[in-house]
Amino acid sequence: MLTTDSSKTRETNVDVGEVLAGTIDPRSDRILILDFGAQYTQLIGRTIREIGTYCEIHPWDVDDAFIRDFGARGIVLSGGPASVTEGDEDTPVARPCVFGLGVPVLGICYGMQTMAAQLGGEVETADHREYGYARVDVRGTCTLFDGLNDGEPGETALDVWMSHGDRVVRAPDGFDIVASTEAAPVAAIADAARNFYGVQFHPEVTHTKQGHEVLRRFVVDVCQSSTGWNPGNIADSLINWARTEVGDDHVILGLSGGVDSSVAAALLHRAIGDRLTCIFVDNGLLRLNEAEQVMQTFARNLGVRVIHVDASEKFLGRLSGVTDPEAKRKVIGETFIEVFDAESSKIEGVKWLAQGTIYPDVIESAGSKTGKAKVIKSHHNVGGLPDYMKLKLLEPLRELFKDEVRKLGVELGLASEMVYRHPFPGPGLGVRILGEVKAEYAEILRQADHIFITELRNAGWYDKVSQAFVVFLPVKSVGVVGDNRAYDYVVSVRSVTTVDFMTATWSHLPYDLLERVSSRIMNEVRGVSRVAYDISSKPPATIEWE
Ligand code: XMP
Repeated sequence: MLTTDSSKTRETNVDVGEVLAGTIDPRSDRILILDFGAQYTQLIGRTIREIGTYCEIHPWDVDDAFIRDFGARGIVLSGGPASVTEGDEDTPVARPCVFGLGVPVLGICYGMQTMAAQLGGEVETADHREYGYARVDVRGTCTLFDGLNDGEPGETALDVWMSHGDRVVRAPDGFDIVASTEAAPVAAIADAARNFYGVQFHPEVTHTKQGHEVLRRFVVDVCQSSTGWNPGNIADSLINWARTEVGDDHVILGLSGGVDSSVAAALLHRAIGDRLTCIFVDNGLLRLNEAEQVMQTFARNLGVRVIHVDASEKFLGRLSGVTDPEAKRKVIGETFIEVFDAESSKIEGVKWLAQGTIYPDVIESAGSKTGKAKVIKSHHNVGGLPDYMKLKLLEPLRELFKDEVRKLGVELGLASEMVYRHPFPGPGLGVRILGEVKAEYAEILRQADHIFITELRNAGWYDKVSQAFVVFLPVKSVGVVGDNRAYDYVVSVRSVTTVDFMTATWSHLPYDLLERVSSRIMNEVRGVSRVAYDISSKPPATIEWE
């Protein structure tokens, strides 16, 4: 996917709310999440969106005017790595206006600790960290917990996920202690009069069994938010937004076959029809039948105007002799821009370049700019747009999480098999052929990869793992075929399970499945004499081999 600095368009984007003034705006009831830097903050956002309420994540120190103008029905203070007990001027705190707006506030982990400290309670560093599963005893009544129980009948116990070193030791005036564990006697606090709540545990992670319900109660029962944020309403509002934003202009979009650009294409086609032209560049590094599938789905089934450019010779020619992984990425990125630019300049009157930027990219790029969020994943995208192209960026998916993009894709009529595909890197098979890329290697890899994915699907494992593929190793190993000696290449099968692709564990696939995959690859793909299985997790390995 072609990438530029996605934050640049923020000011130019028309507000969906304005477009829909007078109609239903699924974003009008909204929750503001102030991010103190926790790994889990995006999960809070995703859970609240899943509940059906729009929310946004912003750094903890956005200014008072922003917080007031946001018009939140409620505010969530996330967890974070800092310690309230340090108490110096760098220690992040919620802006005091948060507690003066008259809207409900939920503090999670660090968010609860800073809320407690700021409102007159006390926080201390515990003797040891509490990390992992814990059981909290709920006491008294509290809207967030009433009637929930993971213990024996008659108990009031919840199984939760804890991850903290500090703990609240005294609740501020006006707060009741509504849950406790041995290590955290003040595990949840509530001030029902002001609608301020704090939980030491993490309701946003699935390990907390009733976490979704606790958050739902905060959003729906306490904040009284409506739940109209669903794929149908999202599609309507984005289609309206795109029509208004684009007017009578023409838009181009680089279709990669990946989920984000595909959904963006389907959405924009609904919005502006033939004023969208997609450019699909075949770089010779695609999966088996991929070009055909993209043309079938978009050009033939949906009637989208798609220009199919077969640039495989150009890409493979430029890659000849290039072995360094970074150099390969650079060549692929630059060649892509060159081809894309040449094709797009043939189209008259184009004013916009559409991209499938999604919300996590926006959050990460905002966080990395202010230096407040730890940048764990470096961006691997193909490259920037040259300045001379002078196109305005159109990013219809920039407010959506990946799971929302997928649901939107299904809503727009894309096949769920396409929409729920594993991610595929921008440089394609180029980073799965170690060292120099050759057409012959790409062909072997395509065949082997296709066998692996087919067998995974047949065995019902495709949707259980997060990403699976085959890697080509340009080394030869000895084998026997019939009575003859074979001396052929090695491929490695790779499959990982992950939530965020920042860390990943290798998949424990059943042996009989691995056996079928290896035997089919060695029997059916000419040029392969050996199949290995990659048992490296990330870190220290990365998901791709290059
Ligand atoms: P790594 O190999 O860094 O990959 O563990 C993490 C995720 O990112 C994908 N990836 C890329 N995606 N362009 C992309 O659009 C790239 O250059 C690129 N490199 C890696 C990878 O497939 C995995 O999902």
